[in-house]
Amino acid sequence: MSHAIAVQVSHVTKIFPVKKGDGVTALAEVSLTVNAGEFVSLIGPSGCGKSTLLRLIADLDQPTSGAVTVFGKPAHQARLDQDYGIAFQSAGLLPWRTVEANIELPLQLHRVPAATRRARVAELMSLVGLSDFAANFRTSSPAACSSGSRLRGRSPRAPSCCSWTSRSARSTR
Ligand SMILES: Nc1ncnc2c1ncn2[C@@H]1O[C@H](COP(=O)(O)OP(=O)(O)OP(=O)(O)O)[C@@H](O)[C@H]1O
Ligand SMILES: [Mg+2]
Repeated sequence: MSHAIAVQVSHVTKIFPVKKGDGVTALAEVSLTVNAGEFVSLIGPSGCGKSTLLRLIADLDQPTSGAVTVFGKPAHQARLDQDYGIAFQSAGLLPWRTVEANIELPLQLHRVPAATRRARVAELMSLVGLSDFAANFRTSSPAACSSGSRLRGRSPRAPSCCSWTSRSARSTR
C-alpha cells in the first residue's frame, strides 16, 4: 500500500442506546492515527472502549459521530475491498481442517489456484515462525497443537487473502 496512514480515527463518538436513559457512551471524541507498518496496542481498564474502537475500525459497527478511514478509504469500503484482515482473540480454527488448511481457507474461498495457495501459506507460516512445524501441520488437527501454535496458526489466516487480493490488484494495474 502506498498510503503512509493505515488507520485514521477522527473525533469518533460511540453511544450505545439503552431502553431508558441517555445511552452508554463507549467512546467520546476519540482520534487516533496508525501509520502503515506500525504495531499498536490499545491498553486501558475493562469497559473503556478498546473493543468498540476496534469494531468501528473493522466496520463491524458504526460510529455515532466522527469518521474512520482505513488506507484512505471509509472503513466500510476498505472492508468491502478486503484491504485488511481480522485476527480474533480466540483461535477459531475449524477443527476438521489441519492448521495449514485453516490458513489456506480464505484463499480457497477466493478460488486462488492451488499452487499459489501453497506458496502463500508457506510464506505466512514462515512469517509467524511455524515453518519448522509445517510437516506436522499438514496432517495435524488444531486440537493436536499447543495453544500458542494454534494462535500462531490463527494469525496468518487473517492476512492470507487480503494480502493476496491487494497483490493481485497491483499486478493487474
Ligand atoms: N452492544 C453494546 N450495547 C450496549 N453497551 C455496550 C455494547 N458494547 C459495548 N458496550 C459498552 O461500551 C463500553 C465499552 O465496551 P468495550 O467492550 O469496548 O470495552 P473494552 O475496553 O473492550 O473492555 P474489556 O477490556 O473488558 O474487553 C462498556 O461500558 C460496555 O458495556
Ligand atoms: Mg474488549
